[in-house]
Amino acid sequence: MRILVTGSAGFIGFHLARRLLERGDEVVGIDGITPYYDPSLKKARHKILARNTGFSEHRLLLEDFDALQKVYANGFDLVYHFAAQAGVRYSLEAPRAYIDANLIGTYNLLEVMRRNPPRHALLASTSSVYGANAKVPFSEIDRADHPLSLYAATKKATEEMAHSYSHLFQIPVTMLRFFTVYGPWGRPDMALFKFVAAILADQLIDLYNYGNMRRDFTFIDDLIEAVLRLTGVVPPQPADQPVPVPGDSLSPQAAFRVVNIGAGKPTDLEDFVAAIEAAVGRKARRNFMPMQQGDVPVTFAGTDLLFELTGYRPATPVSEGVPSFVAWYRDYFRV
Ligand SMILES: NC(=O)c1ccc[n+]([C@@H]2O[C@H](COP(=O)([O-])OP(=O)(O)OC[C@H]3O[C@@H](n4cnc5c(N)ncnc54)[C@H](O)[C@@H]3O)[C@@H](O)[C@H]2O)c1
Repeated sequence: MRILVTGSAGFIGFHLARRLLERGDEVVGIDGITPYYDPSLKKARHKILARNTGFSEHRLLLEDFDALQKVYANGFDLVYHFAAQAGVRYSLEAPRAYIDANLIGTYNLLEVMRRNPPRHALLASTSSVYGANAKVPFSEIDRADHPLSLYAATKKATEEMAHSYSHLFQIPVTMLRFFTVYGPWGRPDMALFKFVAAILADQLIDLYNYGNMRRDFTFIDDLIEAVLRLTGVVPPQPADQPVPVPGDSLSPQAAFRVVNIGAGKPTDLEDFVAAIEAAVGRKARRNFMPMQQGDVPVTFAGTDLLFELTGYRPATPVSEGVPSFVAWYRDYFRV
């Protein structure tokens, strides 16, 4: 199969592309190698993908419509759209990056897909769209209309944009709401990476909301497994839809569905730190901080729809996932 992965030098896009290449697919990767975090990590990921002759890399920003159109010229069987300006906190500092990458970038991709739709497009969204919803676990059919950050707002907007294109141009779309993904080759701006770096350097780790946070940490291999299984579950066009199943987010107006991918089991931040301390073999020095603007105290994925559609739920506990990240970190940075 010929597959487009946007954000192929990113944490999740890299892992997905690697799995696709291993099973023999042809993967075209698009990534602008943006400087949001150390581009050398992104280049190192692409270098690994480039060992496989089925991979070709296109370094471009999705905002560059002409360049994107050229890469898309012959169309693709599948499209995975994982490129984005991610991160809740940075969206207070550099909001325009989110408008450019997430809104304009996603719009450009929808425009090229409109002319030549893939069999299935899977677009990354985020648990952040649930805002401070008090009802847990978060369900795909709950309202998610109160984003607390511009990051969340742009991701929710991409869901709505994709719905309209799916409806108008019959593009089958699954929106994937990811919950705090972690693992080897992870992102330097995320807690696990920062904590391990700080502990190894004997520096303080910042625990926001005075440590009273719970996150539905999702191990990367589990997430990729869920994405690959969902790929085979193409949302049906309205005329072909069966009687709706309770809890399904399938749109009656489009071949469009939203699915959570999370562990379905929130971990207390303190337990997460304890798992890191055990894996690193050192105690962390804690710096308790107030809640950050735009952040939420808990994320908790409802995983019934994922299970209903794929027969699969993520299951790797942090006690296994964290050591595998730490092993990668020590190897990569030789520490
Ligand atoms: N990692 C998580 O916990 C998490 C959680 C929820 C949602 N997500 C979403 O999953 C997707 C992948 O996230 P990730 O953790 O791999 O992030 P990442 O930052 O590692 O990867 C994103 C990649 O997209 C590229 N990119 C950014 N803007 C671009 C643009 N305008 N044009 C072309 N390339 C561009 C970056 O260079 C980067 O390599 C994103 O859409 C993100 O919003 C991630």
